Amino acid sequence: MVSDILVASNRGPVSYALREDGELEARRGGGGLVSGLSAIGPDAGAVWVCAALGDGDREAVRRGVGETGVRMLDIDAETHAAAYNGIANSVLWFVHHMLYQTPLEPAFDAEFRTRWEAYRAYNRAFAEALAAEAAPGAAVLIQDYHLALAPGMLRELRPDLRIGHFSHTPWAPPDYFGMLPDDVARELLRGMLGADRLGFLTRRWADSFAACCERLVGGTGDTRIGVHGLGADADFLRARSREADVEDRMATLREQIGGADRKTVIRVDRTELSKNIVRGLLSYRALLEEHPEWRERVVHIAFAYPSRQDLAVYREYTAEVSRLADEINTAYGTDGWTPVLLHVKDDFARSLAAYRLADVALVNPIRDGMNLVAKEVPVVSDGGCALVLSREAGAHEELGDAAVTVNPYDVTGTARALHEALSMPAAERAERTERLAAAATALPPQRWFLDQLEALRAL
Ligand code: G6P
Repeated sequence: MVSDILVASNRGPVSYALREDGELEARRGGGGLVSGLSAIGPDAGAVWVCAALGDGDREAVRRGVGETGVRMLDIDAETHAAAYNGIANSVLWFVHHMLYQTPLEPAFDAEFRTRWEAYRAYNRAFAEALAAEAAPGAAVLIQDYHLALAPGMLRELRPDLRIGHFSHTPWAPPDYFGMLPDDVARELLRGMLGADRLGFLTRRWADSFAACCERLVGGTGDTRIGVHGLGADADFLRARSREADVEDRMATLREQIGGADRKTVIRVDRTELSKNIVRGLLSYRALLEEHPEWRERVVHIAFAYPSRQDLAVYREYTAEVSRLADEINTAYGTDGWTPVLLHVKDDFARSLAAYRLADVALVNPIRDGMNLVAKEVPVVSDGGCALVLSREAGAHEELGDAAVTVNPYDVTGTARALHEALSMPAAERAERTERLAAAATALPPQRWFLDQLEALRAL
């Protein structure tokens, strides 16, 4: 298969589960990139190169099962784990989100160097697959921190291609990025600069990248840099959130909430260190403490979906979230009132149900490339929803005006913001929700994707 448009990412648009009867079950993923790609239509012959992530995926590759336009790479499991868990998620993600507890971590030792080798091999596997699938002069859109070296490697194999790379994360400022060993930091930046064009979600992340280049490799050279703030897919969300399964889940949630005039504060996240779920719960507890008038009158619906559980620090964080939710329920709960409803089983229909009935949405990440929950809630909200939003989320650049802004580390301040949001008059809440929805849908995924494709082709 030789294609004019290629996309590359670690996680692809489909994954396979191996059922007990030996059959493979396909699961389609959502997200901005999947809907973005739909803009060019199924007939465009685009190819999406992704990694086989689990046993089901690997079995699918072995059996030759697959979807048209999706090419899964069966990278040796050990190499994949070292690159994905060992470098992408425990080093690069930590650097860009500034998550290290620095007295102990990071320590870049010999073992790190072994993992770095694996990261190179993993990037090379992508570069080779892309080189093999690309028509002369094709446009290649490489995604995210997993694949920072692939642009440079691909450039060497195929100088004829137009290579783009897009970062869905923040980019670390030079002082923090500078934690990486100099040779590794330079190799990463040079790998990215192998692209003709680099995309970031906000101006702030793009500037950080340029500042790192300035300091470590003498600038960004001929590579262009663009900012594309991925927005919510309004048409899809509005239609999907009106389906029967969402209505069912709204009814169940209402039962769990109890009293009809109870207010709800919702959050929906992967159980992800950068999402700051623990401080969110501490803030909610502080609200109940400082404003006892809210006891029995508010419920916090927290959806924290499992993520990256191969990493011990994520497992510990997940345990801490559930311990703290229990603690709050024990301390404040009464017969007819559960202060925190924590759900950990991933269920998109239930997330939409929560979006629809929420009075307040809490989005308080320590640092976040964009944060699509902040953009999705106002689009589907039934009665208007106040948004408590971290100033460290990329989405804040676009939504800050109509949100209640918080410093994600300030638990007392976040509790105050929750009180303000819960007390907001209905008319003001509705008016702000309208402004939030307009800003959130300014750049729908289809447009986001086409803009990048056109910019790349125009070079
Ligand atoms: C972030 C990254 C994506 C990643 C997603 C889920 O949004 O930017 O590249 O796919 O998290 O994480 P996971 O490790 O499960 O793919």
